[in-house]
Amino acid sequence: MNNRTVRLAKRPSGLPGPDTWTIADEPAPAPAEGEVLVEVKAISLDPAMRGWLDEGKSYIPPVGLGEVMRASGAGVVLASRDPRFAPGDAVMGGLGVQRLACVRGRDIEPIDLSVAPFERWLGVLGIAGMTAWFGLFDVGAVQPGETVVVSAAAGAVGGLVVQLARRHGCRVVGIAGGPGKCRLVTERYGADACIDHRAGPVRPALAAAVPGGIQVYFDNVGGEILEAAMTLLARRARVVICGAISGYNDFASIRGPRNYLNLLVQRARMEGFVVFDYAARYPEARAGIADGLADGSITAVEDVRDGLDRFPEVLTELYTGGNFGKLVLRP
Ligand SMILES: NC(=O)c1ccc[n+]([C@@H]2O[C@H](COP(=O)([O-])OP(=O)(O)OC[C@H]3O[C@@H](n4cnc5c(N)ncnc54)[C@H](OP(=O)(O)O)[C@@H]3O)[C@@H](O)[C@H]2O)c1
Repeated sequence: MNNRTVRLAKRPSGLPGPDTWTIADEPAPAPAEGEVLVEVKAISLDPAMRGWLDEGKSYIPPVGLGEVMRASGAGVVLASRDPRFAPGDAVMGGLGVQRLACVRGRDIEPIDLSVAPFERWLGVLGIAGMTAWFGLFDVGAVQPGETVVVSAAAGAVGGLVVQLARRHGCRVVGIAGGPGKCRLVTERYGADACIDHRAGPVRPALAAAVPGGIQVYFDNVGGEILEAAMTLLARRARVVICGAISGYNDFASIRGPRNYLNLLVQRARMEGFVVFDYAARYPEARAGIADGLADGSITAVEDVRDGLDRFPEVLTELYTGGNFGKLVLRP
């Protein structure tokens, strides 16, 4: 079996285009001592991928030119030179954007397909789920009865934040792009209201939806929506900086938030986090989310696309809002 890989050909400026990548067939890799050969069944597409393409200091080194694009993935072991894994085992880890991944056994973990299919292990049971859980409960320190506002609320992280906050006894207002996404957020995820940020200015609609102010604002998008939410903070509010996708393709033109002094007025705080810092506690979050899936109180929505060669175009949908729920590519 040949491998097929997506490698970084050129660092993009703005939205990555087809010339950002080289897609080619390559000989199948052979596992060395301690390594495992995995057939990739599902690849996680993440907004952070854009940041990994840029030179410079971040929380993780950039993908090198010529390297296989970094990605979380899930698949089946074909061959193993690590005694912890055997052919046929289902696993997940940093498998990259390719059909066959040769990885160190210590960098992957087993997954149980009787609990959830491959794509769900990359969604609510994967990094997106862990991000929602620790961002809301640890960084946001959310309490029952509080009003929680979530941006990109129809997405992988945001959709779970909405549901976890509702289950926790909060009043939840989502912000999402378009009526279809707002229906998903209210009807399936159970938000009390959802503001369509494509329908008009967010600030007045949000103000009407949170008459008592916002206790927790879970921000996935940054920019103008962050600024609008920050004008509506309640006393001792927490602003959780999870991401700022509105700026990922153009950081140079980000302005503000101009009204950050509202943190002072409201004795509020704003705090960013990187989910990897919670790795030791993932089992705790996974157990809580798996319980919710089993009893039906959590709905998982995945947007699964087929074809490794479609990676360049499918990735850009994260930045244009084309995905409903967790975006996954089946190679
Ligand atoms: N801190 C961490 O450790 C960590 C870990 C994982 C993810 N994240 C962050 O979490 C956020 C959500 O990630 P995800 O994987 O769940 O992606 P996602 O929400 O499933 O997909 C991205 C969504 O962002 C929205 N969006 C894109 N451009 C926008 C803009 N200019 N203004 C407003 N909304 C825009 C779109 O939804 P609409 O159509 O609704 O606009 C799009 O569908 C990202 O910021 C990501 O970087 C952080």
